[in-house]
Amino acid sequence: MSSRLATTPFLELRGVSKHYGAVQALMDVDLDIHRGQVLGLLGDNGAGKSTLIKTIAGVVVASAGSVRCNGKEVFLSSPEIARGFGIETVFQDLALIPNLSVASNFFLGREMTMLSRNGLLGLLQRHKMEKEVIETLKKLDIHIPSVKVAVDELSGGQKQAVAIARATHWKANLVIMDEPTAALSVPEQKKVLALARQLASDGVAVIYITHNILDVVEVTDRIVVLHRGRKAAEVLTADTNEHEIISMIMGKTARSP
Ligand SMILES: Nc1ncnc2c1ncn2[C@@H]1O[C@H](COP(=O)(O)OP(=O)(O)O)[C@@H](O)[C@H]1O
Ligand SMILES: [Mg+2]
Repeated sequence: MSSRLATTPFLELRGVSKHYGAVQALMDVDLDIHRGQVLGLLGDNGAGKSTLIKTIAGVVVASAGSVRCNGKEVFLSSPEIARGFGIETVFQDLALIPNLSVASNFFLGREMTMLSRNGLLGLLQRHKMEKEVIETLKKLDIHIPSVKVAVDELSGGQKQAVAIARATHWKANLVIMDEPTAALSVPEQKKVLALARQLASDGVAVIYITHNILDVVEVTDRIVVLHRGRKAAEVLTADTNEHEIISMIMGKTARSP
């Protein structure tokens, strides 16, 4: 029993399929997602990566298949339900509101109660929220001028870091990152890779989508490759190389664990 518990993945997807009319975006995908691991999700454009993570995030409802969370069957039928299981996504567009402060962005849609009231209570709550945000940023060693500045005033890397920190702020069990380094300078990319590793060492499961093979090799523990909606390969990162990864993405090499 205890060994079963110790090895139960955070999420187990079985036979997950999704079609849009005649387009089969995902076909019969089995996938285990483990705490403390960075899983690289790879595949050419149109392979089904975004559809797969949207299924996990409750944004898209699968046409077939099942999902277990901590060993129990669940229905990730909305983003709110997925978040309830500690599944947080940093989407490509980051979903930050540029003219709101960093602190306000953390609490979008989940403001502490009483903030809407005027007066001292409201002020105290705002102060408490800002303090919590400062603590989360500090824990991840993220440096910004102030949590009161508008997100608009931050660099691309700072925005990405803030979006990741916001996801982790809510006791995430799984953080999904979709192309997190695509628009960043090299030092900013390094920071985001370090954040992904730090989350994993804190016991969080991370799914990392990228086209950058060097990032894949540097940051992931395991790689799953989708090809035309199917799982074409699954391999430990330590057990493969850049050349083979490219071949798997092109659908020329299939590997299973
Ligand atoms: N909302 C949608 N309506 C119709 N087809 C879609 C929709 N979303 C994705 N697709 C199709 O599903 C397939 C997989 O897309 P996607 O998951 O976005 O792939 P990736 O993220 O790997 O590039 C593609 O053929 C894409 O055109
Ligand atoms: Mg995509």
